Amino acid sequence: MKIRKIELSDFDDLYELWKEAGLDMAEIEREKREFEMMIELNPTSSIVLEQKARVIGSALGIFNGRRGMIYHLALEPKWQGKGYGSLLLKEVEKRLQQRGATKFNLFVSLENLKIFPFYEKHGYSVMSDSIVLAKDLWKK
Ligand SMILES: CC(C)(COP(=O)(O)OP(=O)(O)OC[C@H]1O[C@@H](n2cnc3c(N)ncnc32)[C@H](O)[C@@H]1OP(=O)(O)O)[C@@H](O)C(=O)NCCC(=O)NCCS
Repeated sequence: MKIRKIELSDFDDLYELWKEAGLDMAEIEREKREFEMMIELNPTSSIVLEQKARVIGSALGIFNGRRGMIYHLALEPKWQGKGYGSLLLKEVEKRLQQRGATKFNLFVSLENLKIFPFYEKHGYSVMSDSIVLAKDLWKK
C-alpha cells in the first residue's frame, strides 16, 4: 500500500471509485472541472491510496486560508473496514495542518449518516451552532 499525492491523470479512475463507493457526486463535467481547479489550488494536500499501482482510495484536502475542508474520502468497497480510511483521514489532516489549517470541516450526506461513528472516532462532532447554506451557479 502506498499513499501519494493526487495527479490530474487520476480523475477517470477516481470517478469510477467514487461511484462505486456511493459518494454523493455532481455530474461528471462538474466533478472534473472542480477536480482540476482543486489540484491547481491544492497541489499537495489531496491524496490517493494505491495497491499494486492501482488507485483504491482517495481523500481531497482543501485549505482555503481559514479552514481545512475534506471531501471525497472513499475506498473501493472491498478495501473498506480494514483501517485504510483512518489512514487516509489522518494523512490528509496532517497535510492540511502542515499548510496552516487549525480546524477541519467536512460534509456527511443525510443519506450516509451511518458513517458518523467513523468520524466521531476521529474527533469530529456535529456543528450545533450553524447550518450550511449554499447558492449554486452551475448551469446544467
Ligand atoms: C468512510 C470510509 C472512507 C471509512 O474507511 P474504512 O477504511 O472503511 O474505515 P476504517 O476501517 O478505518 O474504520 C475505522 C472505524 O470506523 C468504523 N466504521 C467504518 N465504516 C463504518 C460504517 N459504514 N458504519 C459504521 N462504522 C464504520 C469502523 O467500525 C472502525 O471502527 P473500529 O476501528 O472501532 O472497528 C469508507 O468506509 C468508505 O469509503 N465508505 C464509502 C464512502 C463514504 O461514505 N465516504 C464518506 C463520505 S463523507
